[in-house]
Amino acid sequence: MARSALLNIMVQAATKAGRSLTRDFGEIENLQVSRKGPADFVTNADRKAEEIVFEELRKARPTYAFLMEESGEVAGTDGQHRWIIDPLDGTTNFMHGIPLFAVAIALERAGEIVASVIYNPVIDELYTAEKGGGAWLNDRSRLRVAGRKHLSECVVATGINSRGSAGDLLQLRQLGQITPAVAGIRRSGSASIDLSWLATGRFDAYWENQLQPWDIAPGWLLLREAGGTMTDFSGTPGSIWNGEVVAGNETIQAQLLKAIKAVK
Ligand code: IPD
Ligand code: CA
Ligand code: CA
Repeated sequence: MARSALLNIMVQAATKAGRSLTRDFGEIENLQVSRKGPADFVTNADRKAEEIVFEELRKARPTYAFLMEESGEVAGTDGQHRWIIDPLDGTTNFMHGIPLFAVAIALERAGEIVASVIYNPVIDELYTAEKGGGAWLNDRSRLRVAGRKHLSECVVATGINSRGSAGDLLQLRQLGQITPAVAGIRRSGSASIDLSWLATGRFDAYWENQLQPWDIAPGWLLLREAGGTMTDFSGTPGSIWNGEVVAGNETIQAQLLKAIKAVK
């Protein structure tokens, strides 16, 4: 697939930040043994990656706005475009030396996500999507969601968090109901990886709550371009703003949504 100029810019920013994260990831093993652990080091790696993405994108498109996990919002002058950025999605994995994390970037145009890039630098998987242009892995394989028709045959990804919130408890109740109804549950530790692996067909479905727009936006376009669908827990078509995701192919998404609605 020949990349557009826009995707080229996004890929350059994501891979440059990815190289910085990979260098820092190489240090993590040494830091694990210290009693304090690598927490401060990881915070710095995260900020550094965001700075790289910000600088690259700003240089290429000086008028666009930004919404970034670490630095928040930066206004733009063109009134149409906004970058949505998670420089390190999968922080807990990164901190523990688990090579599943990603740089995730989406571009919003007039309120709609029109391009996205998700890059896992350790396993060198680059996911790209542009509205109407399909979703791709490493520029070579066009992605398509898995075609399974029965939830009982599905590998289903989710997020399990322990912030002590009502959303966490709801998640655990859902997990209790859904686990016996599926072939397997997986927790990757990165919402962007969950959504991109759903787009490749490795996962058949995915649900989670309490997500942030930068967790959802890049993967959502990939999923849509791979033929998948997404709603919130009440069945309203996907939004990046209310934190809830139920996703899969049309048939499986409907079955998972029904199971989720049944959990109070
Ligand atoms: C987290 C990951 C994780 C999800 C959490 C997110 P972070 O993002 O996407 O999979 O379960 O809700 O906060 O903190 O690693 O950028
Ligand atoms: Ca995140
Ligand atoms: Ca993050």
